[in-house]
Amino acid sequence: MLIVYASKTGHVARFVARLGQKSLRIQDGRETIHEPCLLITYTTGFGEVPGEVLAFVERNRPLIRGVAASGNRNWGANFARAADRLAERYGIPVIHKFELAGTPKDLEIIQEAIHALFGTEQCAVA
Ligand SMILES: Cc1cc2nc3c(=O)[nH]c(=O)nc-3n(C[C@H](O)[C@H](O)[C@H](O)COP(=O)(O)O)c2cc1C
Repeated sequence: MLIVYASKTGHVARFVARLGQKSLRIQDGRETIHEPCLLITYTTGFGEVPGEVLAFVERNRPLIRGVAASGNRNWGANFARAADRLAERYGIPVIHKFELAGTPKDLEIIQEAIHALFGTEQCAVA
């Protein structure tokens, strides 16, 4: 199990670092994975999925078990909408939405989701 993430200004990167799981950062979307993953992305534009994330999903869809998105509530209805867009377009289950680098509660929710999706042995916290 792998956390695959995209981060432009560092919030998602900080959140993922606190999860203490094996992770891969999307650079240009041409990455290929060989094990199941949870995808965590930021939201851009007006509720859009970053281009590099779309490219990654096109290549690796069968191994993506869920998506979580970071955003900012100032964006109203477009808050963390990248997750909804990926659910609509690819049928990837939305696991969670959180603001910026998340709170301890957000971390807990993601850890629980990892447990549910991938099993206990994957939940060691660094
Ligand atoms: C140009 C730009 C557009 C954004 N658009 C949205 C948006 O539509 N919805 C949202 O919830 N957040 C939006 N955000 C906020 C980011 O998704 C949020 O700050 C996120 O935590 C960034 O993650 P990162 O620091 O890992 O790149 C936008 C930020 C920028 C700079």
